[in-house]
Amino acid sequence: MKKYGVNDLRRMYLEFFESKGHLAMKSFSLVPHNDNSLLLINAGMAPLKPYFTGQEIPPRRRVTTCQKCIRTGDIENVGKTARHLTFFEMLGNFSFGDYFKEDAIKNAWGFLTEELKLPKEQLYITIYNDDDEAHDLWRKITDMPEERILRLGEKDNFWQMGETGPCGPCSEIHIDRGAEHACNHPDGCALGVCDCDRWLEIWNLVFMQYNRDENGVMTPLPRPSIDTGMGLERITSVMQNVNSNYDTDLIYPLIEKVEEISGKQYDKGADGFPFRVIADHARSCTFLICDGVLPSNEGRGYVLRRILRRAVRLGKSLGIEGPFLYQFSAKVADMMGEDYPELLD
Ligand code: SER
Repeated sequence: MKKYGVNDLRRMYLEFFESKGHLAMKSFSLVPHNDNSLLLINAGMAPLKPYFTGQEIPPRRRVTTCQKCIRTGDIENVGKTARHLTFFEMLGNFSFGDYFKEDAIKNAWGFLTEELKLPKEQLYITIYNDDDEAHDLWRKITDMPEERILRLGEKDNFWQMGETGPCGPCSEIHIDRGAEHACNHPDGCALGVCDCDRWLEIWNLVFMQYNRDENGVMTPLPRPSIDTGMGLERITSVMQNVNSNYDTDLIYPLIEKVEEISGKQYDKGADGFPFRVIADHARSCTFLICDGVLPSNEGRGYVLRRILRRAVRLGKSLGIEGPFLYQFSAKVADMMGEDYPELLD
């Protein structure tokens, strides 16, 4: 498998979907526009909601983005697992009533196995319980054996963002990172059973069919649509053959910066926790402040304040005295300014 840098992967993804007729759009701000249901953009589809519901006309019926996202719901896992982050970039391709399941599956499979040349025998699929159509398409389009297609319930394979908005059954692509990453789950380490780092979800294909309102009522969207999301950091870790998001060229240089400031050496095991959290949180703080969020006691400002305080507290645990977090913003801008020129501005 060829090793790619993160900037190559971001570009390859967008170019692949442009070659399939998609319009590549710039990432939207982390601050939602005209949307009171969300504090911060937490998925590639979030800023595109009005296109799914038919409230606004999209610039094209096929769009692709690499969207900056913030998720803090599982902040306690950040730095503990290989895959949790508060700031991440989500690669996505979207169809607003244009193609549906068949082309979504065909394109995802084509990108992973022909462009990136991931070994097919390591890939696993999950589908929503009764989604026979998705099952049959995976069987028809790919040579995925029956035993590597798992049917799971609503918790795993029905996607919705919070309580309201466009939603639908989904199909996820996972990669088996190998028995050396297995956990000791009492029922055995297996996809759909445990939640360890062996089974890495790399791509979620959502078959958008409904809009859920404030009362929980689901009405069909004007036309079935597609929303896919692949974490750039995760696919980078796979392509760079490293064990965690933190070991990729997207984050490791920030861990080195923590080493430089603290004078301490990073440990990839449990002792490296503060280094990983500071590296992640430094990215979140830099991008949030860049998009105009400032620390405060409420709303999105409180999210930033919480992230910032956590990073500072862990800096203290490494013996760092005085303000230090600001030193990361220039580094983040250096690393990512080409794709996010607002950081340089
Ligand atoms: N909305 C889905 C997710 O965030 C796919 O993009 O996982």
